[in-house]
Amino acid sequence: MGSETGTMRGGDYEIRRFRPQPASSSDYAGTEQWIEAVHYGFYQKPGRDELTARIAESSVADGRELTGAYETTPAPAPALDAGRPVATFATFRKTLNVGHGVLVPAHMVTAVTVRTDHRRRGLLRRLMSEDLARAKADGVPVAALTASEASIYRRFGYGVATHERSVSVETGPRFRLAAPVRGRVVAAEPSAMLELAPEIFARAHRAIPGSLGRQERYRLRAAGQWDDETGGPDRAVRVAVHLDEQGTPDGYAAYAFRGWETEPPTMALRDLVAATPEAYLGLWDFLGSLDLIERIDWEDAPVDDPLVWALEDPRVVRTGSVRDMLWLRILDVEAALSARRLAHGGDLVLRIHDPLGFTDGRYRLGTARVARLGDDDPAQDDLVMDIAELSSVYVGGVSPVTLAEAGRIQVGAHRPGAAAELAGMLAVERPAHCLTHF
Ligand SMILES: CC(C)(COP(=O)(O)OP(=O)(O)OC[C@H]1O[C@@H](n2cnc3c(N)ncnc32)[C@H](O)[C@@H]1OP(=O)(O)O)[C@@H](O)C(=O)NCCC(=O)NCCS
Repeated sequence: MGSETGTMRGGDYEIRRFRPQPASSSDYAGTEQWIEAVHYGFYQKPGRDELTARIAESSVADGRELTGAYETTPAPAPALDAGRPVATFATFRKTLNVGHGVLVPAHMVTAVTVRTDHRRRGLLRRLMSEDLARAKADGVPVAALTASEASIYRRFGYGVATHERSVSVETGPRFRLAAPVRGRVVAAEPSAMLELAPEIFARAHRAIPGSLGRQERYRLRAAGQWDDETGGPDRAVRVAVHLDEQGTPDGYAAYAFRGWETEPPTMALRDLVAATPEAYLGLWDFLGSLDLIERIDWEDAPVDDPLVWALEDPRVVRTGSVRDMLWLRILDVEAALSARRLAHGGDLVLRIHDPLGFTDGRYRLGTARVARLGDDDPAQDDLVMDIAELSSVYVGGVSPVTLAEAGRIQVGAHRPGAAAELAGMLAVERPAHCLTHF
């Protein structure tokens, strides 16, 4: 694919963009070096050939584009091999549910690393700015990522759009749902997930605002064919499938026993995808009844969780941590807002500031359409915000009222209720949640 060179603070770099190659390809070395660089950046063990080969294979399946920054004048020995990039960046495209079942194209950014001996020279800024400009030129309305640290990405226009929480659920006699569940749950062969997991996820994806399309790895994990440590089979995984009253699968849980040395005996829930509220509660009812098990741990639980309200004793659910999960970055305000089905009528003028200049401007958000306003248009600005804030409220994960109270959105004195009006217009049909880590 592309290659370009440039001098940056403290060094000369060549930026190469390419498609990953499988281990069987004669061009595999570049892909392998790039994956090793990502492992290095996240302090993972190097040289796990099988894992690297599987990552390459799944990257091909995801249609990823890999970007690497390479030193044009490599440092002398004993510096690391110059064929290995000093910075990595990967992207792929899926869809984002923006509420009411509407899916829009999303540009997903991942594997962002800059090697310690090349940090703070502007590599991330360059890779991110150039990449977002390319996604915008392609007409993709929104970019997405998950962040290792919360202080990095706002400067590029990203805002937190959904949160998640880790829970530990006590499954002894106190675990009882208040109402009977519908449908039934069957223990299933993990290999059935190769086909079933994507089908069930596709339904859940249309049902949950904030949901992002998933990469290949998810179905392999649920099928017990992807161990995160080795890339090999994962024999610990067990699967339960929820069938609706007609016998159609509409949810699954993939889980693994933590071992008898863990006290109390605990199942780690690896993945729970439910296309309907009935499937969600049905799967929890099943998990809550696993013999010999006293606790279920889940890292990806929704913050606004029906399980808590469905239980006779909601205190069996203990929250560990609540974390920012999905970060969004609107690249085209007119396209992004036009795609939103507005829950309420209204007419608001938004002034948007953009640190990278992609979306700076004034926009009128009305029931019929979204329009860009000229600077000479006499309409007053009702709300003023950075693109990060518009991105945060985009799928309903936080209210504009909260962001106004936080001082992140300025409300025009002539229109004191404008943040609440925007909240009403952008309301989604159910709480936003994203089950896709990438
Ligand atoms: C985070 C990381 C990619 C930054 O790369 P970098 O090339 O050093 O960043 P840059 O020099 O381009 O800096 C860009 C801006 O981000 C800021 N920044 C960089 N890393 C930061 C951090 N960890 N926390 C807060 N701000 C950070 C810089 O101060 C700079 O700000 P400015 O341009 O507004 O002055 C790099 O430190 C890294 O690889 N960390 C380990 C892996 C990781 O955390 N990756 C993120 C995965 S989501």
